[in-house]
Amino acid sequence: MNIILTGDRPTGKLHIGHYVGSLRERVNLQNKGDYQDMFIMIADSQALTDNSGNPQKVRDNVMEVMLDYLSVGLDPQKVTFFIQSGVSALPELTAYYMNLVTLPRVLRNPTVKSEVKLRGFDNDKGIPVGFANYPISQAADITAFKANIVPVGEDQLPMIEQAREIVRSFNSTYSEVLVEPKELLPENKNCYRLPGTDGQAKMSKSLGNCIYLSDDSETLKKKVMSMYTDKDHIKIEDPGKIEGNTVFTYLDAFCKDEHFQKYLNEYNNLDELKSHYQKGGLGDVKVKKFLLAILEEELEPIRQRRKYYEARIEEVYNYLKNGTNKANEYANKTLNEVKMAMGINYFNDDNFIKEQINKYN
Ligand code: TRP
Repeated sequence: MNIILTGDRPTGKLHIGHYVGSLRERVNLQNKGDYQDMFIMIADSQALTDNSGNPQKVRDNVMEVMLDYLSVGLDPQKVTFFIQSGVSALPELTAYYMNLVTLPRVLRNPTVKSEVKLRGFDNDKGIPVGFANYPISQAADITAFKANIVPVGEDQLPMIEQAREIVRSFNSTYSEVLVEPKELLPENKNCYRLPGTDGQAKMSKSLGNCIYLSDDSETLKKKVMSMYTDKDHIKIEDPGKIEGNTVFTYLDAFCKDEHFQKYLNEYNNLDELKSHYQKGGLGDVKVKKFLLAILEEELEPIRQRRKYYEARIEEVYNYLKNGTNKANEYANKTLNEVKMAMGINYFNDDNFIKEQINKYN
């Protein structure tokens, strides 16, 4: 039976890139129900690996991320939410796994490499040890729950790959305790990485190019109507480009045929809209209004659920707290098995004392 685990760093509110890249997939998994347990972790310890000077930011975003989870429709009756720093078996497992991984191997991890550049760790202070270590800690997050399915965005593939390596290494060095995880990516490749509203490769808070799940209608409208399209598409008659046109990239991720019947019935599907745009004679404003209608339809129920849970913050807090208790039970169980496999569980292992007695008598 499947065990699903995934998580997010609480460094900001979640945006529609998170939504199509992973959150929507989690809701689908939840609704299919083909699992024994589904764990969703707020990765506050991991967030601190590159925000050590700003714990307030992490603290402030724990509840934001919980509200985002609940507002997309993740159901606390079907999903266990927990906080990473509340499960002490995780750093303990990490410590043992660290012996199975070399320093060059973590530094070669493509996600780590690009983040090192992005954070400027390579040209000023140097790389914090905890940061370099986070792929190993992520392997602990996954294996502590014996998760076999990890729904993530494409950028996390190197982490899952590295987790599998650690599992193989552990199982062959000690014994078959750990389970190899497999990533689950969105079916629609257009959802792997949504660009920012300004056309930059990625949505990022610091670039101010995100559409947040919690944006109200007015904000959403402003953002969509000022989105980057094709800089050479000036007059309506001009032929337009689809490639690199953010509005069409978003449509690729969100639009279904039924949206045309509802909001733009001169076309049957996205291909027809695209070819008209490419031919010329279709203005950006019309396409943007169509996208806006679709996003509005998708985000409105999310906003409503958020309002519902914002009025019940203590309840939300208790989901996280109770989930963390349950997560501890699971992770401690795995930690015991790990220590047993390594022969270091001296006080739960009757053989240990027997061996010692035999040896000294
Ligand atoms: N690295 C993930 C991110 O930045 C968060 C994360 C931490 C995670 N531990 C995990 C994701 C385990 C999946 C599984 O979003």
